Amino acid sequence: MSALTIALSKGKLLLGAEALFRRAGLPFPSGEGRKLVVLETGLRFLFVKDKDVPTYVEYGVADCGVAGRDVLLESGSDVYEPLDLGFGHCRLVVAGRSPAAPAAATLRVATKYPRVTAAHFLARGTSVEVVTLAGSVELAPALGLADCIVDVVETGRTLAENGLLAQDEVATSSARLIVNRASYHARRAEVSQLLQKLREALS
Ligand code: PRP
Repeated sequence: MSALTIALSKGKLLLGAEALFRRAGLPFPSGEGRKLVVLETGLRFLFVKDKDVPTYVEYGVADCGVAGRDVLLESGSDVYEPLDLGFGHCRLVVAGRSPAAPAAATLRVATKYPRVTAAHFLARGTSVEVVTLAGSVELAPALGLADCIVDVVETGRTLAENGLLAQDEVATSSARLIVNRASYHARRAEVSQLLQKLREALS
């Protein structure tokens, strides 16, 4: 049978994933080089964009993946999420200028998380127009593109340095191990062994 395939991103979660896999005695690619598929003694690793990890796992190209809960919430991908990996802690928050500029009847919200944002305000009965950006979201309120933002906060430094204050929490996040639904059953022994080793390293 082919090697169990794990999708990773080279983003903020890579160092935490490497530390945990090594602590668990699992192979992990060195991170050097530009190869996007790396075989390491029995495991095959794919390096993809962080937002694409759930997609590769949902479609079964990868059996497992490491993804932030923030990314999973936004993707809505149909995958198992059996393990909180205990690193990559951050919060998704609504943040705005302080003091807040007067807003129109419909709040304009800039974000990299349009689905999560729309759901958050819908649940509160607040009418919003979501402006989807690819990054540097903290610029939007100062430049008049949006009244507020929904974004990830880790240290809080980016918000503070751009004159923004967190106003509401949308979700908390950390790195999760995700598993393709078919692989979870068809490759039960290998997936269970992986989960067991990671659980031991976490305890
Ligand atoms: C994330 C997020 C904030 C920043 C928060 O951006 O969108 O900008 O990190 O971190 P802090 O609270 O520690 O300052 P990222 O670095 O992923 O870049 P991006 O905006 O280009 O996506």
